[in-house]
Amino acid sequence: MTTVDLASTTKIGNGYRLISVEESPDGGLVGHLQIKLKNNVYGADIPLLQLYVKHETDSRLRVHITDAEKQRWEVPYNLLPREKPPALKQTVGRSRKDAYTYTLTPSEYAGSELIFLYTTDPFTFSVKRKSNGQTLFDSRSDESDPYSDLVFKDQYLEISTKLPKDASLYGLGENTQPHGIKLYPNDPYTLYTTDISAINLNADLYGSHPVYMDLRNVIGESSTHAVLLLNSNGMDVFYTGNSLTYKVIGGVFDFYFFSGPTPLNVVDQYTQLIGRPAPMPYWAFGFHQCRWGYHNLSVVEDVVENYKKAKIPLDVIWNDDDHMDGHKDFTLNPTNYSRPKLLEFLDKIHGQGMKYIVIIDPGIGVNTSYGVYQRGIANDVFIKYEGKPYLAQVWPGAVNFPDFLNPKTVEWWGDEIRRFHELVPVDGLWIDMNEASNFCTGLCTIPEGRICPNGTGPGWECCLDCKNITKTRWDDPPYKINASGIQVPIGYKTIATSASHYNGVLEYDAHSIYGFSQAIATHKALQGLEGKRPFILSRSTFVGLGHYAAHWTGDNKGTWDDLKYTISTMLNFGIFGVPMVGSDICGFYPAPTEELCNRWIELGAFYPFSRDHASYYSPRQELYQWETVAESARNALGMRYKLLPYLYTLNYQAHTSGAPIARPLFFTFTNETKCYGLSTQFMLGSSLMVSPVLEENKTNVEALFPPGSWYNMFDMTQVIVSKEAHYTTLDAPLHVINVHLYQNTIIPMQQGGLISKEARMTPFSLVIAFPIGATEGEAKGNLFVDDDELPEMKLGNGYSTYVDFYATVSKGMVKVWSDVQESKFALDKGWIIEKITLLGLDGIQGDFEVEVDGKPIANTSKLEFSTAEHKYTQKLKDSDQDKIKS
Ligand code: NOJ
Repeated sequence: MTTVDLASTTKIGNGYRLISVEESPDGGLVGHLQIKLKNNVYGADIPLLQLYVKHETDSRLRVHITDAEKQRWEVPYNLLPREKPPALKQTVGRSRKDAYTYTLTPSEYAGSELIFLYTTDPFTFSVKRKSNGQTLFDSRSDESDPYSDLVFKDQYLEISTKLPKDASLYGLGENTQPHGIKLYPNDPYTLYTTDISAINLNADLYGSHPVYMDLRNVIGESSTHAVLLLNSNGMDVFYTGNSLTYKVIGGVFDFYFFSGPTPLNVVDQYTQLIGRPAPMPYWAFGFHQCRWGYHNLSVVEDVVENYKKAKIPLDVIWNDDDHMDGHKDFTLNPTNYSRPKLLEFLDKIHGQGMKYIVIIDPGIGVNTSYGVYQRGIANDVFIKYEGKPYLAQVWPGAVNFPDFLNPKTVEWWGDEIRRFHELVPVDGLWIDMNEASNFCTGLCTIPEGRICPNGTGPGWECCLDCKNITKTRWDDPPYKINASGIQVPIGYKTIATSASHYNGVLEYDAHSIYGFSQAIATHKALQGLEGKRPFILSRSTFVGLGHYAAHWTGDNKGTWDDLKYTISTMLNFGIFGVPMVGSDICGFYPAPTEELCNRWIELGAFYPFSRDHASYYSPRQELYQWETVAESARNALGMRYKLLPYLYTLNYQAHTSGAPIARPLFFTFTNETKCYGLSTQFMLGSSLMVSPVLEENKTNVEALFPPGSWYNMFDMTQVIVSKEAHYTTLDAPLHVINVHLYQNTIIPMQQGGLISKEARMTPFSLVIAFPIGATEGEAKGNLFVDDDELPEMKLGNGYSTYVDFYATVSKGMVKVWSDVQESKFALDKGWIIEKITLLGLDGIQGDFEVEVDGKPIANTSKLEFSTAEHKYTQKLKDSDQDKIKS
């Protein structure tokens, strides 16, 4: 194996000079770059490049660089809709020099908030923020910091940016980051979708997200921006602390700069480009139980029953591939999962409001008596190698991989999902192994008479004859990314990178969008079925995946370290526009200890996507298996189910503005530098802070409290008051998870239950948190409710209601009011607010009055104010502005 010094700063190229630049027809800039001095390291330089720069919105700048003379691979415009750069200039019949000589205009191109600046020889560019003059990206190299000039070869692209030392960077995943959420200088960041488990630190995992958020704080004032390099080819990104270098093995430079300036602005601007996060159905926020190894239906029935008996909430029961016949997608094992019995079971749980999800893998078993395969072959849907379907091995034995870039495949896949749904009315689909994972490397052949041991158990390793393929430059590119964290060849245990997709697209280029393209096809199929809001869980992800699916962080270990790592990965996915994310609670394998499982459900109850899942080889770890875990689960999930209206409102906010459901503290406390690297606590929305125990034998937790009053959600009398951000030791005996509500907020809750459908029909309550001791103050909150089965999540369709809640305290008077949009839906459901809890009013001496929606509430003078509760019944109704202002 060739070894390359990964952190090498050797100059690979000598840069380009800008030889022309003019205004493009769409108001951007278009120019041409000519190579200065060619060399052959990692291949020949592309002589002439096209540069296209455009302020696409007030807050988004695009810089696109490609070969000026030949179309190159780019992330398909139909998968990730965006503007196309102007068509390449025709050079035929003219010498390159004549074709591209224009007068150069001034070296600055300003938008509303960002300015693009450039030098001509060598060509370099920088991006500045107008409002504070900060340089956000700067590709100029200098002698003291000798990274490369721009390099653009067929299979190697390189560019660097200088960074100030105090910039805090986040993103560049999927990657398990032992140093926490903040990018750590000199840790490797390799992006290439790979089936290696999440226990591999600093390695290219299941997803590829070449985007980072950059948070800077200058004398207490912060500003944030983000940089996306929209490119699906494998890449290494080197971050040294004062520079960041991309080394990419194909495609184009397609940079997008998002000006922020707050983290929430950044995710809003980012998801405006890549697609807003998919709306999730209400039940998806319930608790999910899964396991690989539910050998038959009775086991599954038993699990559901045991959850009921233990009084632990459960909304969704899952099957891994155990329900399948011979591990083949869209089939049922006739003995262990007989259809009539399964349908009976589903009727029963559906009647109670529970849901059922099963797994599917992309690899379709090669088996001439298997309908899915037969139809696949008939429709010519598979990825090809030398003209024939590419043969690989996964659980069913020999498999072919559908090519989801082919419209015919998308149609066939939709039809298979429709057929399966007629067989089994599943409520969602789990798409696994879609990096794509292959047990063999190279090209398989099926030896005469050999039957591979399909499915679980020893023998997963390639049993087919796997021959080494003739290595093309796609299988063995000149630059080796740090694949799997150990620089294996890029075709290792995946589809051979010289295999081809629709229209001659190479697996080499499309590799990291495989799972993404499968998610899009699956989403289309599910949405088309019954016109319902789809739920899809995908292991592999790419930029834009969140628009279609949720994600879990893959195979982790039942260890304390793994428990901790889940927080950073989850928070990163919020930044990636995939807010519905969680990790296998209690660990995928091996067995967790009882104490660890206690702590894991306490944390996992507050993951946006909350699912217990375990490997075939682990002992059973449903939450009722240990009495102590059951108690922690009742406690933590009990709180989650009361908070479902809040979580669901966060789902709406994610869908409309990209705001992550689970967020780093710096999203709320942008100027608090102590929050910048914090990876052991997180916020749900901007009101709740979760501070879990992440270490063994601990009964307390050191938690950071940014300034303000923080109320314990389980016992609202306990309050932490923080003048400036500081650490406090909180009690956390085994069954206790610390969740705190921040001041100035109003949080909608319901009474909880064992299934979200029931919990959803209970009366609402509001908790209103003023700063402790406040005699003057205000609080705000909101609520979104809708018919969660509808594909679209929006106001104005007659099936949704949105409420802004407001409260003020002033001169001994508390006023609470609401501004309701589209009240009809909530009124028809009969939803009422039954109770309001006021927190923080200890400072008011003597009597005080409470007025709700303009009406005085009697007897409030007798209330004890710190945890005052007043029960009243208030229908959610459209607000009367005049009354509110009274
Ligand atoms: C790999 C997935 O990561 C895991 O969750 C699943 O249980 C196995 N595949 C078996 O399907």
